[in-house]
Amino acid sequence: MGLRIGIIGCGGIAGEHARGYLSCPGVEIVACADIAIERAQRFAAEYNVPRVYNDYRTMLAHEKLDAVSVCTPNYAHCEPTIAALEAGIHVLCEKPMAINVAEAERMVEAAQRTKKMLTIGHHFRFMPFIRFIKRRIDEGLLGDIYFGRSHALRRRGIPGWGEFHIRDKSGGGPLIDIGVHALDCILWLMGSPQPVTVSGKTYTMFGNRVTFFSAWGDYKRDEFDVEDFAAGFVRFSNGATLVLAASWAAHIEEQEDFSQLVLGDRGGVMLRPFGPSAGVRIQSSREEALLDVLPSGFPEKHPHQEEIRHWVACLRGEAEVLVKPEECLNVQRIIDGIYRSSELGREIRVEELAPPRKEEEHPHRPPRQKARSSRRRR
Ligand SMILES: NC(=O)c1ccc[n+]([C@@H]2O[C@H](COP(=O)([O-])OP(=O)(O)OC[C@H]3O[C@@H](n4cnc5c(N)ncnc54)[C@H](O)[C@@H]3O)[C@@H](O)[C@H]2O)c1
Repeated sequence: MGLRIGIIGCGGIAGEHARGYLSCPGVEIVACADIAIERAQRFAAEYNVPRVYNDYRTMLAHEKLDAVSVCTPNYAHCEPTIAALEAGIHVLCEKPMAINVAEAERMVEAAQRTKKMLTIGHHFRFMPFIRFIKRRIDEGLLGDIYFGRSHALRRRGIPGWGEFHIRDKSGGGPLIDIGVHALDCILWLMGSPQPVTVSGKTYTMFGNRVTFFSAWGDYKRDEFDVEDFAAGFVRFSNGATLVLAASWAAHIEEQEDFSQLVLGDRGGVMLRPFGPSAGVRIQSSREEALLDVLPSGFPEKHPHQEEIRHWVACLRGEAEVLVKPEECLNVQRIIDGIYRSSELGREIRVEELAPPRKEEEHPHRPPRQKARSSRRRR
């Protein structure tokens, strides 16, 4: 079946989507939209897209589309997603799902109401060794899972493009940017337990220092109003717990540490998606012996392209969406919970994170003055 795709937001990640779609026979990218029309034009020229728009709503109204990829900055995920769903179009939206729980809940509600598919771009789930270990965990490899520890740490990696460092545009710093991938991955491996309480603390230690050097490009120091480090602790309804940390800048040994540890009573796994020790290690014991297993030989597959190929299979009715919006809503709840806990200095019950009243658009945004005082903390 031929599929007609539209792209909303034609920046860096949109290229990964385009290459993924173009690798699928019978799939056509028929239109793209970007508020910066020259970006849409450049993208269209590179990927042979016939029509460009500077307003996604016009694209949705004029084009006959089966699906769109929403590749806009975080603050612009919710509205295009809901508009597309309401136009009868399936949506693959980039991560994070949204900038707060209220938006994420509206997106889930829109997908349920319109009966259209919605998924979020958590490509870690498409890495071959992560899919392999998920299948083994589902078979009972780890037994009763009681603990997870998730790191998404960069030593010097504040993004130097886009608006990741501006809270109104991004919803937050490394926690919502890269912590979101690690969180989605570890929750999935732990069997998607239901979060009950969240505690956390965020820090802005480096991002607004004029002397700070980021290896990921340059950004305006005086605009930086998000955290550069976050720590969290989560309790789940099944008794399991999770500790997590996310940073764009920290004095750690490696350039990056994206390790994920899951412990059960029969075994444990340590996962590293990137770097020289990328892969998965399984720890267990038999009699007095400790067993360490290092599975190998996984095929080289590009996770973004695997994600798109899976999405195309879903659009053709050949597969079921792997990254379910309801699971991503729980990820968003934990993120909001950490931001809220950090502001209030106490543990947050997830049920407190209900949709905000109209006047408070961003439930986890601290008052401006508070954000500044946290910058002075050093
Ligand atoms: N899955 C991943 O590994 C991954 C990697 C990078 C980025 N991302 C996510 O993808 C999103 C985009 O990131 P990026 O690095 O491509 O950013 P980018 O700044 O390179 O591109 C974003 C594009 O969206 C356009 N845009 C902004 N508002 C718009 C609107 N209302 N309508 C249409 N276009 C609009 C901008 O002009 C820009 O061209 C972010 O949410 C980011 O978190 C995911």
